[in-house]
Amino acid sequence: MSEKVLEAIAINKYFFDPVKFQVLSDITFSIEKGTFVSIVGKSGCGKSTLLYILSTMDTDYEGQLFIDNQSLYNKTNAELSQVRNEKIGFVFQFHYLIEEFNVLRNVMLPGMKLGKFSEQEIEHRAIRHLETLGIQDQALKHPNQLSGGQKQRVAIARALINDPLIIMGDEPTGNLDKKNSDLVFDIFKELCQEKKQTLLVVTHDPDFSQRTDRIIEMQDGKILV
Ligand SMILES: Nc1ncnc2c1ncn2[C@@H]1O[C@H](COP(=O)(O)OP(=O)(O)O)[C@@H](O)[C@H]1O
Ligand SMILES: [Mg+2]
Repeated sequence: MSEKVLEAIAINKYFFDPVKFQVLSDITFSIEKGTFVSIVGKSGCGKSTLLYILSTMDTDYEGQLFIDNQSLYNKTNAELSQVRNEKIGFVFQFHYLIEEFNVLRNVMLPGMKLGKFSEQEIEHRAIRHLETLGIQDQALKHPNQLSGGQKQRVAIARALINDPLIIMGDEPTGNLDKKNSDLVFDIFKELCQEKKQTLLVVTHDPDFSQRTDRIIEMQDGKILV
């Protein structure tokens, strides 16, 4: 039996400034566990806006959203933040690593925030993820001492720290050269194949999207079928 990790039903969203503008129209789709899904479409078609809603950070929309079969309707900010910390890992175009912390502490941060495991356990897991990503030797460096590709691998390790149900990425390779983009793709693919990790990645790199399990194409705020 297939397992739905995420389900969006008839999502509409408007912006009102400077004029009323429907940015998302009737977005309906679901994502099965263990699939690697990409969202593609021209700049301005609504990809980031959609991802912001799916990741529970924006609650100003119409329609229904389920994560892990749980409706997000009418949840408080604290409840949404709990869902986010526990079930979603994020990888953005810019890594948002904290310069004051070394790599290890950066990776541990969402684990400390969730507060589900002891600090020792979180550190242990962080080291394991850095090993998986081949950057354990960088653990004590600060982000500004790393290359772009290494920073993005640290961001992936950080996204993995709470064993998320789904990893979401907004242009995670947007700032990388071809070699590092391929590396990030290969890491995602391996996480999907070997750990049944579910991934939802916004990209406008066709080389990237064509190699994912499923492509969702958007145009003018709608999903093309
Ligand atoms: N806060 C905002 N207020 C008004 N319009 C916005 C806002 N954010 C994005 N938009 C507009 O919504 C559309 C979709 O933006 P976005 O989701 O960022 O597109 P994409 O990620 O596909 O490039 C664009 O036309 C953009 O100008
Ligand atoms: Mg965008």
